[in-house]
Amino acid sequence: MSFLALEKLEKRWPDGTHAVRGVDLAISEGELVVLLGPSGCGKTTTLRMVAGLEMPSAGRVRLGGADVTALPPSQRDVGFVFQFYALYPHMTVAENIAFPLECAGVARPERDAAVQRVAERLDLVALLGRRPRALSGGDQQRVGLARAMVRKPRLWLMDEPLGSLDAARRAEMCELIRVQQLADRVTTIYVTHDQEEAMRLADRIVVMSQGEIVQAAPPREVYDRPATLFVAKFVGSPGMNLIEGDVRAGRFVPAGAHASIALPNAVADGRVVLGARPEHLRLDPAGALRGRVALEAHAGPWRHVHVEGPWGRALALTSAHETHATGAEVRVAFDPAGIRLFDAASGRSLA
Ligand SMILES: Nc1ncnc2c1ncn2[C@@H]1O[C@H](COP(=O)(O)OP(=O)(O)OP(=O)(O)O)[C@@H](O)[C@H]1O
Ligand SMILES: [Mg+2]
Repeated sequence: MSFLALEKLEKRWPDGTHAVRGVDLAISEGELVVLLGPSGCGKTTTLRMVAGLEMPSAGRVRLGGADVTALPPSQRDVGFVFQFYALYPHMTVAENIAFPLECAGVARPERDAAVQRVAERLDLVALLGRRPRALSGGDQQRVGLARAMVRKPRLWLMDEPLGSLDAARRAEMCELIRVQQLADRVTTIYVTHDQEEAMRLADRIVVMSQGEIVQAAPPREVYDRPATLFVAKFVGSPGMNLIEGDVRAGRFVPAGAHASIALPNAVADGRVVLGARPEHLRLDPAGALRGRVALEAHAGPWRHVHVEGPWGRALALTSAHETHATGAEVRVAFDPAGIRLFDAASGRSLA
């Protein structure tokens, strides 16, 4: 049986907004699940229902086999990091971090040792004596994180805990969170709209759109086999190349172009969108699609080559040593193993 189960969870706000629509999710003990999705898709609302801070309109939350839907937050044993850090302004950083331990009745020496340990991990030792108003936004966020991670509750619930950090600090903190979570094996739900962060952290990514789960799978699978066009566009930076067309007699025929691409698997004829990650496209004189180089950009070890043709636009990754003049005629070839097809009407992946 799963450790944490969300069963047909629903949230309708009084103004009629249907924020969460029938969310079903089973999470194993020790798992780190990332809720990923664009702003307003219902991530925070879902997390707050798990925490007990918001009552579902329908559905259940089960924790360790027990129905906790009606239990207040204090009886669920969760550590929560809010999207907007809520530190106690009159307490020092050390007192803020120690607060959950104090509430749990942990003795002073043990408390101090735990605060010291988490402060060292999160690089907060020099700030322990300060009050929150004397901290930057990023520092405050790290204190919020330390306050949640000082304890080993049954669940850690983290709502965009790295929102106000710069990119380098985010990457570093992501690693720290993951290391600590793996060490303590606390079951964790982590909310973000940043797909790179999700990739870095998750055992499993749960992609949400408009209050619904559209895919729940390990990062590699979400990246390789997006369940819908929405996931294909949302995950990966740069995103998946998408070309509209038709399947005819086992080949993909792009709209508006005299060309066709052999498909690796048998698919019924019909309107589709072909998807391929930039690393699965090559510029190759024998390639199926003709186009012109619209733009080239340097990207570390790679070069991004944007190609335009009557079939649309695509981005190929080439070696940084290859150069192509803007406007040059090229042909694009697809690695058959990287080709994905989506139903044009529903957006669903055609396996
Ligand atoms: N207290 C509330 N009362 C009414 N509507 C709300 C309330 N909180 C959230 N909503 C609405 O519910 C929907 C989901 O909001 P939610 O905060 O869960 O999104 P989110 O995925 O966390 O977005 P973000 O990435 O911007 O934090 C939105 O349409 C939002 O406007
Ligand atoms: Mg939110």
